[in-house]
Amino acid sequence: MNQTYRIDTNTDIYLGDSKEILRLFPDNSVDLVFTSPPYADQRKNTYGGIHPDNYVAWFLPITEQLLRVLKPTGTFVLNIKEKAMAGERCTYVMELILEMRRQGWLWTEEFIWHKKNCYPGKWPNRFRDAWERLIQFNKTRKFNMYQEAVMVPMGSWAETRLRNLSDTDRIRDNSRVGSGFAKNVSNWLKREKAYPTNVLHLATECNNKNHSAAFPEELPEWFIKLFTQENDVALDPFMGSGTTLAVANRMGRKSIGIDIVPEYFDMVKCRLSPDGQLMLDMKRENEQTESERYLSVR
Ligand SMILES: C[S@@+](CC[C@H](N)C(=O)[O-])C[C@H]1O[C@@H](n2cnc3c(N)ncnc32)[C@H](O)[C@@H]1O
Repeated sequence: MNQTYRIDTNTDIYLGDSKEILRLFPDNSVDLVFTSPPYADQRKNTYGGIHPDNYVAWFLPITEQLLRVLKPTGTFVLNIKEKAMAGERCTYVMELILEMRRQGWLWTEEFIWHKKNCYPGKWPNRFRDAWERLIQFNKTRKFNMYQEAVMVPMGSWAETRLRNLSDTDRIRDNSRVGSGFAKNVSNWLKREKAYPTNVLHLATECNNKNHSAAFPEELPEWFIKLFTQENDVALDPFMGSGTTLAVANRMGRKSIGIDIVPEYFDMVKCRLSPDGQLMLDMKRENEQTESERYLSVR
């Protein structure tokens, strides 16, 4: 049964299937979609597993709606990682990218989330998985991007590499591979900040114990800074415990979330309401023995 709840003027949450709920939203109304959908074939007991062979067909009606609701200047960032099955990596993420391009999306960029604190393990034919994809899609080539908002300190780079500049570093050095890109490293001398790379080094740990598939707050935070400004609208169509919404609100953005599981909808209602965190903490204490209820995997 679908439900809507307005937490405050900046935050709306919906209970239901994103495929249906997204139809309610106006065209070109969202600045950033940031989400981590259920992984293929996991969490069968709670919201139904999607077989890897059906994953693309399951997801495309949702991305079709996202394409409609995203503003032409907006960005869609998809946190996903293909699972391994029968000794091979599945191909549904690659297939999804190709199908989304056919749907009209531009595959603008891919970021890597390097999970700094990945736990140890041993597998017969691979090493432990320590990264996930953050795939960036856009509707147009001219989208909003606030690069200055995510600049990083020059740090040790300034003291080492920039101290010993070669002659080529001091002139405009055209790419040797003919890419057309050129750099003049000496431009960065005496600067305090540089632009980051497309690899984010973040721990998986987060304070949120109610949804084990929750991502750390730093993940949506970085992309919200990069692609939105105050009062812009961030949407998470698979909100889970509401991490994207909580961060967006803290940063002065409007937020919209959708989840198909009533417990998660109620949890976000508590988490984001002014006195809700207190209620949530009490509820968590009472239910600690029933921890299975709140444990979730993708
Ligand atoms: C990986 S979790 C998201 C976790 C979230 N990023 C967080 O920080 O808590 C995926 C969520 O998608 C929800 N979900 C699965 N299928 C859905 C659908 N068709 N429509 C809406 N939500 C769905 C699940 O209930 C689950 O909470």
